[in-house]
Amino acid sequence: MRERLTERLEEIKERGNYRTIKYVKPLSATRLIYESREYLNLCSNSYLSLHFHPQIIEEALKAINEYGVGVCSSRSVSGSVDLYKILEEEVAGYKGYERGLIFSNGYLANIGIISTLTDEDDVIFTDELNHSSLIHSMRLSRAKKVIYRHRDLRDLEKKLAVEACKGKRFVVTESIFSMDGDIAPLDGILELKKKYEFYTIVDDAHGTGVFGDKGSGVEEMFGLSGMMDVHMGTFGKSLGSYGAFVLADGVIIDFLINRAKTFMYTTSIPASSLASSLAALRIIKNDLSFKDKLWANIKRMREGLKGAGLDLKESYGPIIPIVVGEDSKAVKMQELLMEKGLFLQAIRPPTVPEGTSRLRLTVVSGFTEEEIDYAVHSIIDIGKRLGII
Ligand SMILES: Cc1ncc(COP(=O)(O)O)c(C=O)c1O
Repeated sequence: MRERLTERLEEIKERGNYRTIKYVKPLSATRLIYESREYLNLCSNSYLSLHFHPQIIEEALKAINEYGVGVCSSRSVSGSVDLYKILEEEVAGYKGYERGLIFSNGYLANIGIISTLTDEDDVIFTDELNHSSLIHSMRLSRAKKVIYRHRDLRDLEKKLAVEACKGKRFVVTESIFSMDGDIAPLDGILELKKKYEFYTIVDDAHGTGVFGDKGSGVEEMFGLSGMMDVHMGTFGKSLGSYGAFVLADGVIIDFLINRAKTFMYTTSIPASSLASSLAALRIIKNDLSFKDKLWANIKRMREGLKGAGLDLKESYGPIIPIVVGEDSKAVKMQELLMEKGLFLQAIRPPTVPEGTSRLRLTVVSGFTEEEIDYAVHSIIDIGKRLGII
């Protein structure tokens, strides 16, 4: 076996696609130390920079004192501490759904939803750029998979029109795509639902806290809060903590409690993470200044990059893909930016399709204007040197 793995690793290296881990020490919500040097973190998903918020840290510490550092049981046994119930109710109310159920993380939530709710007679229609957790969950499902072109309603409709089945049909999409930063046409998908019968499953991992007037997510931006059959979101991005939630009606939630293996057979998340998610949720519900500052920063970063002629594709919001193409060029760009004190990672296949290697830049509310201007200036400078601009 080792020989085979070594051969494969060599192939990965030859393609310029070899990954190593960078061990870092955060200094604040936006800065970190890597190999004794300080960097501005340009790839955090903590869009509202809440993971160092003093009040949230205090709530997490209080929970550790009250509940201990772990719950040491699955949710179905003795791990469902009372904070779960409060957080499930509050997050469901915030996003306009009847019930909520917390999973240990978004990857497990997606696997739980799709492998549990779909059957062998069913068909799943899936956007071609859906997240790895959704793709893997479909491999565990016995339903037939039909891939439609990225955000392409015409292609989805064409496929819905011909793919009948004995069971149920599901359309699965991210709300904002994690690697491209573009938005799924949720309104168009709901229009199609009037004509073709199906259930909607939407992954709003990167939308929560960012989109809509209240910041409750991409559905709110479309005026469609609570309108999907199943909604998934995470606490590990804008809410600065860890864990994920599924929102739906009572029947779906009760079924997941009874049948979703990734809910039933894994240790539940510690109370400190629940307490920090709850504190973060209450802060963003009452104080829109984090979201407003984020959008001001997004505008400044995007205008700076676009002004210099960088193609930001169809992205909208805090995720900005800078598509370079070849794996090795993306790695070179990353290295040159790191020399300038900017920490971000080249994203390569299999995370993104072959030939679309990129830098995935994220904007957060904690950046100062000077930090944004410095990042823009550095990216343009290196982009020109590498012939991307
Ligand atoms: C779109 C999307 N869905 C699901 C997940 C998984 O969530 P988690 O990190 O909580 O496992 C991610 C990831 O990071 C994601 O980007």
